[in-house]
Amino acid sequence: MTVFITGGAGFIGGNFVHYIKRKYPSYRVVCLDCLTYAGNIKTLDPFINDADFHFSNTDITSRADVCRLFEEERPDIIVNFAAESHVDRSIENPEIFLKTNIMGTQVLLDACVKYGIKRYHQVSTDEVYGDLPLERPDLFFTEQTPLHTSSPYSASKAAADLLVQAYVRTYGIPATISRCSNNYGPYHFPEKLIPLMIINALSDKALPVYGEGKNVRDWLYVEDHCSAIDLIIHKGTPGEIYNVGGHNERTNLEVVKTIVGILGKSEDLITFVKDRKGHDLRYAIDPSKIENELGWKPKTVFEDGIKKTISWYLDNKEWWQEIINGEYKNYYEKMYGNR
Ligand code: NAD
Ligand code: TYD
Repeated sequence: MTVFITGGAGFIGGNFVHYIKRKYPSYRVVCLDCLTYAGNIKTLDPFINDADFHFSNTDITSRADVCRLFEEERPDIIVNFAAESHVDRSIENPEIFLKTNIMGTQVLLDACVKYGIKRYHQVSTDEVYGDLPLERPDLFFTEQTPLHTSSPYSASKAAADLLVQAYVRTYGIPATISRCSNNYGPYHFPEKLIPLMIINALSDKALPVYGEGKNVRDWLYVEDHCSAIDLIIHKGTPGEIYNVGGHNERTNLEVVKTIVGILGKSEDLITFVKDRKGHDLRYAIDPSKIENELGWKPKTVFEDGIKKTISWYLDNKEWWQEIINGEYKNYYEKMYGNR
């Protein structure tokens, strides 16, 4: 079995490479990643010399490069994580989000039509559903919730989902889509809420909370997301969408206070800053479909996951310090420039 994992040098894709290599040692894994600022090849260090692992510095928007790799490797399964993923960046510069998230998805789908595939899986997000009101904790996103996007990031992800569905209907591609809530865990790029707060708190820097910190996110430990995708690609029904989330809703302020508490730092570090434009209020997933149809259950509750995550950042300072000082950008050139 040959699995293409796009965006495998990023946060969730990287965790998924680790997960698949651990669970299916006989699979050949090919990681396609063009190493944007969010990609860190060091995340893949344990596998880089394995015969059954291949890292390809490929941009998914490059049709020629993607097709060449399909011809060489003839993948059975594609899991598409590659994306521009940060909402704040999408507000500053939407264009690259449309290019990578929409056009990149189209290139991959076209390659699937041309070469054939057993399964294409699109890693999407609950943000395609927009947001829920804070005063209605009884409401959750289901797979039937209409798409209603707020940011250029979520709009580009929703457009990609629609393309996937169109390719299922028009070309008969055996594709599935998962829409997951916010992930956290190891290898999370330090521009996102949880790693940013851990790293700032460790150096007693201000902890910038947007608005009043009342926005709610539904946090899922990244390994639980990986196990959901594993089930979907092996047992899910082509053409279906699966919502993934673990009922771990927290306000941003609660999350930040939990981190500060575990690290034994002062809450005086918390600084309220100007709110994000169009800031979604609450995300909350109803995961009944994947639980009932595929038997998925998350294993890690937030209280344990956040402690594991903080321990990982304490034990792997080099990984994030090299991102902060920019050193990680030279690593690929140094290690692979002459290969
Ligand atoms: P990330 O930003 O950490 O990683 C993205 C990876 O994609 C990076 O390694 C980057 O180099 C690569 N990439 C970007 N553009 C590329 C291109 N044109 N060609 C090849 N590679 C490219 O993102 P993440 O948080 O790991 O998210 C992965 C996927 O999961 C995304 O599709 C995102 O929409 C989705 N998702 C994320 C979350 C979350 O909480 N992080 C939740 C639900 C869904
Ligand atoms: P983020 O990690 O960017 O994920 P998303 O916007 O995709 O949910 O942000 C999570 C929440 O934390 C979101 O409500 C915005 C907020 N936030 C802050 O309050 N301060 C920060 O510095 C960041 C990065 C995010």
